[in-house]
Amino acid sequence: MSFTLEGKTALVSGAGRGIGRAIATKLAKAGAAVMVNDLDDTALCETRCGLNAEGHRVERLVGDLTDPTFPEKLVKAALDAFGSVDIIVNNAGYSWDGVIQKTTDEQFQAMLDIHLVVPFRLMRAASSFIRETAKKEMASGKRVMRKVVNITSIAGTEGNAGQAGYSSGKAGVVGLTKTMAKEWGRYNVNVNAVGFGLIETRMVQPLTGTDASIEMHGHQIKIGVQQAMLDSVRQACPLGRLGTPDEAASAVLFFCSPLSDYVTGEVLICGGGYHF
Ligand SMILES: NC(=O)c1ccc[n+]([C@@H]2O[C@H](COP(=O)([O-])OP(=O)(O)OC[C@H]3O[C@@H](n4cnc5c(N)ncnc54)[C@H](O)[C@@H]3O)[C@@H](O)[C@H]2O)c1
Repeated sequence: MSFTLEGKTALVSGAGRGIGRAIATKLAKAGAAVMVNDLDDTALCETRCGLNAEGHRVERLVGDLTDPTFPEKLVKAALDAFGSVDIIVNNAGYSWDGVIQKTTDEQFQAMLDIHLVVPFRLMRAASSFIRETAKKEMASGKRVMRKVVNITSIAGTEGNAGQAGYSSGKAGVVGLTKTMAKEWGRYNVNVNAVGFGLIETRMVQPLTGTDASIEMHGHQIKIGVQQAMLDSVRQACPLGRLGTPDEAASAVLFFCSPLSDYVTGEVLICGGGYHF
């Protein structure tokens, strides 16, 4: 049994690298036209050019999703380019960690903004198109399923020391997912979440003497995970290893595909069986 996403348009945020790029790749290979977004234009161009070179229909809109006006622009760009939005993957994210006494208001709010407020704004931006299109489809006797996949984390479903903001944002998006599943079921939209354990991307690269950092809103934010933590995850993980971006994207693809047409409001954990 197989499926195709021919004729579908997907929108994937944070698709310049890591899991987002793997998701955009899987969706494009399954036949979807894909609008990709990222903050980082160089990385985003690589995603788009690589997929265009393989003959896939991929357009890009670079920009910061936390700009309150940007989610509307992104949905409009997808509609202008491809005429539809059928799949939304809220993937963009980063971690800005710290124990609570060292976490500033700005830091905590930034985690809520990218992991919770952005998915809310993106769904709201797509809501007119989704409702109006679904009403027309239903009036003509058609049931067309659309898909939203929000990315969460075992830090959100279980909590993780040193990640008050990140975990809160990732927990919040589970509530948003379950609510939108109830609100949009009548429009034939499946709204689900995928929560990752540890997946090998720059977010979980081993911290070394020359730690990597990303620049976000004027701050240099250290990213990565202590080697000891990575070792203990491998040991405690039933599958004995971290996941790959491709494996992470496979779990997302399930929720983007007709295989999940009767699944909504759920959280699928893709973490090799590891739990905090
Ligand atoms: N890697 C893991 O182990 C892991 C575990 C649990 C959850 N996650 C989640 O998976 C998602 C993808 O993470 P990843 O590991 O691929 O990280 P990554 O750093 O490799 O990629 C994330 C991408 O999101 C982009 N991004 C961040 N903020 C943005 C913004 N405001 N506007 C536009 N783009 C923005 C970044 O530029 C980056 O290219 C994130 O939501 C992350 O929280 C990852």
